[in-house]
Amino acid sequence: MVEPLRRRILLISADGQVGWELQRCLQPLGEIVATTLEGGATQRTLNLADPDAICAIVRELRPQLVVNAAAYTAVDQAEDDVDLAMAINAVAPGVLAEEAKRCGAALVHYSTEYVFDGGKIGAYREEDVPNPLSVYGRSKLAGEQAVQQVGAAHLIFRTSWVYGARGKNFLLTMLRLARERPELNVIDDQTGAPNWSRMLAEATAQALVTQLRGADEKWSNALERLQSVSGLYHLSAAGAVSWCGFARRILEFAESSCRVNGITTAQYPLRATRPMNSRLVTEKFSRIFGLDLPAWDEALKLCMAEMK
Ligand SMILES: NC(=O)c1ccc[n+]([C@@H]2O[C@H](COP(=O)([O-])OP(=O)(O)OC[C@H]3O[C@@H](n4cnc5c(N)ncnc54)[C@H](OP(=O)(O)O)[C@@H]3O)[C@@H](O)[C@H]2O)c1
Repeated sequence: MVEPLRRRILLISADGQVGWELQRCLQPLGEIVATTLEGGATQRTLNLADPDAICAIVRELRPQLVVNAAAYTAVDQAEDDVDLAMAINAVAPGVLAEEAKRCGAALVHYSTEYVFDGGKIGAYREEDVPNPLSVYGRSKLAGEQAVQQVGAAHLIFRTSWVYGARGKNFLLTMLRLARERPELNVIDDQTGAPNWSRMLAEATAQALVTQLRGADEKWSNALERLQSVSGLYHLSAAGAVSWCGFARRILEFAESSCRVNGITTAQYPLRATRPMNSRLVTEKFSRIFGLDLPAWDEALKLCMAEMK
C-alpha cells in the first residue's frame, strides 16, 4: 500500500493579516513551516528582500506548496521606498516561483486591485488591462507577471481592502478613532469590497482542497491538477461599498455613537493615488473552484462578533 504523502507547506509571513489566518486554515492540508521577518521559537526567519535566503529555504525544505502571504503593503510609503517595495513585491515572487518550479512545488500568491487605475465603469475582470497608479500597484503587478512568466503551478489571488482582528487595517483604525473622536470624515467616492483576512485564508485553503482531493498518494497528480488551474483569480467578498459606508457599518455593529461624514478623495490627499473603483468580478474563482465568498458586510459582522 502506498503511504499517503504528508505535504509540506512553506508559509511565508505568518504574521500579516492573511498569513496569520492561513497558519490555521492550512493546517489540515499538511505540515506547515511558517516564516516571519524576525523568526521565533516556532517560525523560521525569512526576509524576502534577500533572494539568496529565499533559494536557501526552499531548497532546504523542499515543500509541495509555497504560500506567499508577505508583501510590502505600506502603500504611501512605497512611493518613497521604491527599491524595497520592488524587491519584496516584484522580484521575490519571481524567485519563489523559480524555486517552486525547481522542487516541484505549487505557489500561492496574493495581489491587489491596485494594479488597476479604477477608471472602469463596472467591476474588473481578470483579463482587464492593468494600469497601476502607484508604486505599490506597479510592484504588485510586476510580481504577478514574474510568477506567471516562470510557469510553475501557481494561483494568484487578487483581492482588495483587507481587514481583520489583528494587524494594521481600516476596521481597527475606525474603532480606535471612534473611541477618541465624536465624528470622523471618511472618503465616500472610492468603491470596493472589504475582505476579512479569515475569509481569504479559508477560501485559499478550500480552493486548494478542491484540487488536492483524491490526489494524495502521488504529489505529481496534485501538481498536474494545480497546473491545469494555474492563473490569476479575483478573490473578493460580494457586494461593494465606499470607505465611508464601510466605516458606518463598522460603527453600527460596534454600537458607536460616533458620526461619520462622507468626504471626497480630493479632500483627503494621500501620497499614493488609489483607484476610485476597486470592484472585482469573482466569477472565475466561483466557476473553477465552486466557492463563493459571502457579502462583505456578512463577513464583517462575523469578524466583529468574534472580536467582542
Ligand atoms: N492589506 C490590504 O488591504 C490588501 C489589499 C489587497 C491585496 N493585498 C495583498 O494581500 C496579501 C496579504 O496582505 P496583508 O493585508 O495580510 O498584509 P500585511 O498584514 O501588511 O502583512 C504583510 C506581511 O509581510 C511581511 N513582510 C514585509 N516585508 C517583508 C519582507 N521583506 N520579508 C518577509 N516578510 C515581509 C510583514 O511583516 P512585518 O509586519 O514584520 O513588516 C507582514 O507580516 C499581500 O500580497 C497584499 O499585497 C492586501
